Amino acid sequence: MELVLTNARIVSMEAGNEGYQPSQPKTIVIKDGRIDAITDQTVDTSDSFVVDCTGKLVTPGLIDAHTHLVFEGNRANEFEMRLQGVPYQTIAAQGGGILSTVNATRKASIDQLVETALPRLDGLLQSGVTSIEVKSGYGLTLEDEIKMLKAAKELEQHRRVKITTTLLAAHALPPEYKDRPDDYIEHICQEIIPLVAEQELATSVDVFCESIGFNLEQTEKVFRCAIEHGLKVKGHTEQLSNLGGTELTARYNGLSADHIEYLDEQGVKALAQSGTVAMLLPGAFYFLRETQKPPVDLLRQHRIPMALATDINPGTSPFADLTLMMNMGCTLFGLTPEESLRGVTCHAAKALGYGESRGQITTGFDADIAIWNIDHPADLSYQVGVPRLYARIVDGAICND
Ligand code: NIG
Ligand code: FE
Repeated sequence: MELVLTNARIVSMEAGNEGYQPSQPKTIVIKDGRIDAITDQTVDTSDSFVVDCTGKLVTPGLIDAHTHLVFEGNRANEFEMRLQGVPYQTIAAQGGGILSTVNATRKASIDQLVETALPRLDGLLQSGVTSIEVKSGYGLTLEDEIKMLKAAKELEQHRRVKITTTLLAAHALPPEYKDRPDDYIEHICQEIIPLVAEQELATSVDVFCESIGFNLEQTEKVFRCAIEHGLKVKGHTEQLSNLGGTELTARYNGLSADHIEYLDEQGVKALAQSGTVAMLLPGAFYFLRETQKPPVDLLRQHRIPMALATDINPGTSPFADLTLMMNMGCTLFGLTPEESLRGVTCHAAKALGYGESRGQITTGFDADIAIWNIDHPADLSYQVGVPRLYARIVDGAICND
């Protein structure tokens, strides 16, 4: 059966000014999971399921294109330590931070990981999300990384949502490889990437390119191997210092360079050449009480598409609400509400490699839609914690969750 949305004031997020202005009421016809037609004409709905959108606003379903949604454990104790002045890097160097989540995650089964991820997933869905990228990176062994990727994909069996998985084995140095980072990189390239590619457990590979992560040379090895295995690359780059990871990511035609608070103009120019998306993560900036902001003006000048994501994880961004990130994008980084909305729709889709099929309300695109009890799109960046979602539609299926 077809799904038809009537009286839809559409914020299409197509390129150009008009993409952000709500349209006059229109009818959207959805067939086989795709947007089949958008019309001012009356449509025969005798054979269709009809949703009357009078008084509502219709946007693309939101896309959270950078998350660590699957993990076990809790790091509230580290939050307390950081509030007393202990830096994130120091906690990591003492074996806490990412490694404390690794310890907990290694002990969990796939079912447990799914169960603990579901409440966080529900938070995201309530903020209008229809597509989510989920990274591994808290396993750091072949077996545990695979377990995380399988748990992430398994979430699709529990909720209507589209999950894209990313291998982040190069997130931190596992204790077994202490003082032998090059051996671990070798293990990632020889064992983990080939298997993940062969079993199609992920479509991209990420590296934490940072003083407390992996250096440029190690990052490049992982990128080269990923590409040889038909996977796309992306990077956690320039989060805490400037190592040049963004330029490297751009050189390998990365999908996105993420965090980028310490990015300089040379790095921005590299992004411009490759078409790599600048992924801004204001939740981590806020929660780590950073003061160095990403170079938003330079990114604008060079017309780099900017995406926004939750980065939801237990250490630096424990926030399961993408509209909160839209608010922070505006208040902390100076984005306009339009830029924020582009950041979680069309630009986030590009960051996942789905720029031609998701993130816009356009004929032929996937019917991933959010219907809101609001009047103007700026409302999504403006309020936080007020339930505004009326319904989500994923591949043409309506969910009132
Ligand atoms: O995106 N920067 C590295 N990874 C995560 C943090 C992970 C953690 O602290 O558990 C991030 O901020
Ligand atoms: Fe992250």
